[in-house]
Amino acid sequence: MTSTATKSEYLIELEEQFGAHNYHPLPVVLERGEGVFLFDVEGKHYYDFLSAYSAVNQGHCHQRIVNALIAQAQKLTLTSRAFHNNILGEYSKFITNFFGYDKVLPMNTGVEGGETAIKLARRWAYDVKGVEENKAKIIFAKGNFWGRTIAAISSSCDPSSYKGFGPYVPGYELIPYNDLQALEQAIKDKNAAAFMVEPIQGEAGVIVPSNGYLKAVRELCSKYNVLFIADEVQTGLARTGKMLACDYENVKPDILILGKALSGGTMPVSAVLANDEIMLTIKPGEHGSTYGGNPLACAVAIEALKVLKDEKLSENAAILGELFRAEMDKLMAETNVITAVRGKGLLNAIVIKEKSGKTAWDVCLDFANNGLLAKPTHGDIIRFAPPLVLTKTQLMECVAIIRKVILNY
Ligand SMILES: Cc1ncc(COP(=O)(O)O)c(C=O)c1O
Repeated sequence: MTSTATKSEYLIELEEQFGAHNYHPLPVVLERGEGVFLFDVEGKHYYDFLSAYSAVNQGHCHQRIVNALIAQAQKLTLTSRAFHNNILGEYSKFITNFFGYDKVLPMNTGVEGGETAIKLARRWAYDVKGVEENKAKIIFAKGNFWGRTIAAISSSCDPSSYKGFGPYVPGYELIPYNDLQALEQAIKDKNAAAFMVEPIQGEAGVIVPSNGYLKAVRELCSKYNVLFIADEVQTGLARTGKMLACDYENVKPDILILGKALSGGTMPVSAVLANDEIMLTIKPGEHGSTYGGNPLACAVAIEALKVLKDEKLSENAAILGELFRAEMDKLMAETNVITAVRGKGLLNAIVIKEKSGKTAWDVCLDFANNGLLAKPTHGDIIRFAPPLVLTKTQLMECVAIIRKVILNY
């Protein structure tokens, strides 16, 4: 560390020098989190308006979740699934009751949840639907994002995700998002196994489909005997103002994928939920993960789900989301820097005008200097996803920061 470098500069340089360059973070170095706040190594505090991509819905270091984590960590953390542990059964009962499915398959990251769902859909297609071996087709919507593995990038239309990593996984078909005609056309195919879709496309820039889209997806999938897989890794767990974004249209996917906030941001915990007809097609030895269903994850996930319900975080997200979008609409009318405001609950985005002289990255740097952390997604879009424990007063302070920055351009 040179005598003139700040602590942040030194730590960023260490990452640069010894870490792979697969991310381009904002230049802040965080060392502590509490509720809606993050603190950097120089002691400056920020409102977190990303929530680790919606993994920290319950707020940073939520006391109840941390207590559950510590209590379990002192007893038993990992057994692998070679043996039973005394929490997995209780957790399985809890989460299946919570979401209304027969069974759960526990994994760790969101992308593993997606992989699991696709394996289940393929196996179901062969064993139940009667698709010829190796012919099963999974349909995705363009603009999807479900992670960075080869299986996930094989369904991507974003060159920065897939370019230079081929060959890709076969048996996929891409159709436009929010296009029911294209969906019907694709799932008429006798080999169609599943349609996997985000109820709101998060990484693509918080793209909200038309009202009625999910209901129609449900009806079409049922009509053509194709599984409806909802990737609620980002939209689920109260983020959009309901426990699941699918709840807005009262639809129940055949396979539900959850992750991120299932642990309140403490560790990777994901889950795939389905009924027996689908879940029991996979037999012992055919799928799994060393850490999937570990006692620590189970204890944490039970508490993380209870917190969402006890603290009425969906309700808070719905109320504050309305207020936030109304404030952003007002701001859009006062400036030509913002060209669109969209979202549901506390998953929102603004679009920065391309020729405003400012990129979304510049705007996020200015937000950070003013005490609010947000991250651009796809060039000109800024996503706003604060922890759902935000209060109305705090929200209005954040609106004031956003207004100050934008109106200064
Ligand atoms: C909708 C969706 N699915 C899946 C994932 C992958 O989750 P993970 O990064 O935990 O693998 C993400 C990550 O952002 C996501 O937004």
